[in-house]
Amino acid sequence: MIKYEGVALSYQDKNVLKGVDLEIQSGEFIVLVGPSGSGKTTLLKMLNRLLEPSDGNIYREGKRIKDFDERALRLSTGYVLQQIALFPNLTVAENIALIPKMKGWTAEAIRLRTEELLARVGLPAEVYATRMPSELSGGEQQRVGIVRAMIGEPEVLLMDEPFSALDAISRKQLQILIKELHQEFGMTTIFVTHDTDEALLLGDRIAVLEAGQIRQFATPKVILEEPATDFVADLFGGAAYA
Ligand SMILES: Nc1ncnc2c1ncn2[C@@H]1O[C@H](COP(=O)(O)OP(=O)(O)OP(=O)(O)O)[C@@H](O)[C@H]1O
Ligand SMILES: [Mg+2]
Repeated sequence: MIKYEGVALSYQDKNVLKGVDLEIQSGEFIVLVGPSGSGKTTLLKMLNRLLEPSDGNIYREGKRIKDFDERALRLSTGYVLQQIALFPNLTVAENIALIPKMKGWTAEAIRLRTEELLARVGLPAEVYATRMPSELSGGEQQRVGIVRAMIGEPEVLLMDEPFSALDAISRKQLQILIKELHQEFGMTTIFVTHDTDEALLLGDRIAVLEAGQIRQFATPKVILEEPATDFVADLFGGAAYA
């Protein structure tokens, strides 16, 4: 379980997050939506201590995040970024091997698992393992990013607008893929998006952030049928609920 308790962050005199309380169950798929600058990336980065709250606490499995060993925390947290963030000078297989190497896996174990996962995301290793990132399309790079974030079987997977740079078709495919991978592996997932249709499709629950505060945290059905504020109602007003 992940718990934010009264979490606040300010830069100089600007309060970016204000008293955020949020409880996420293990294995849940949470989507965080909100306007640009509302604090979504800030909330994510606090989970592996890329940022520290100026007030309040965050807990993982009942233990304060600041009491974790930083390396152990990072290794148990997969992170997929909006910008395609593969190392350009490493091949696909080398990019994927980074975390397993840090975890001390054997070369053979890394090779086998890389093959399995690349196949799983539709990129057969015999074709793609030795390619450089510059030899992949945007959608292919993002698939490799997902494999890289997942191969160490993190307890928590953070995805910050991972599909926003992609065309509608790749985006749709990757939404289905990530949903399947979540069902298969069960990692607690926090997924940031601007796209309310994407939020409704993917989220077990959706947290709506506005100006550094959570306005509503509820299932897609409740968000649509009983929006807590006008802001939430307006945001989801145009969305189609399947
Ligand atoms: N180092 C910093 N110094 C000052 N202000 C900052 C700093 N980093 C972020 N901010 C501010 O904090 C606020 C929240 O930023 P954050 O990146 O969390 O927003 P976001 O919801 O992820 O937005 P987007 O959808 O555009 O990615 C923004 O107003 C931003 O300008
Ligand atoms: Mg952001």
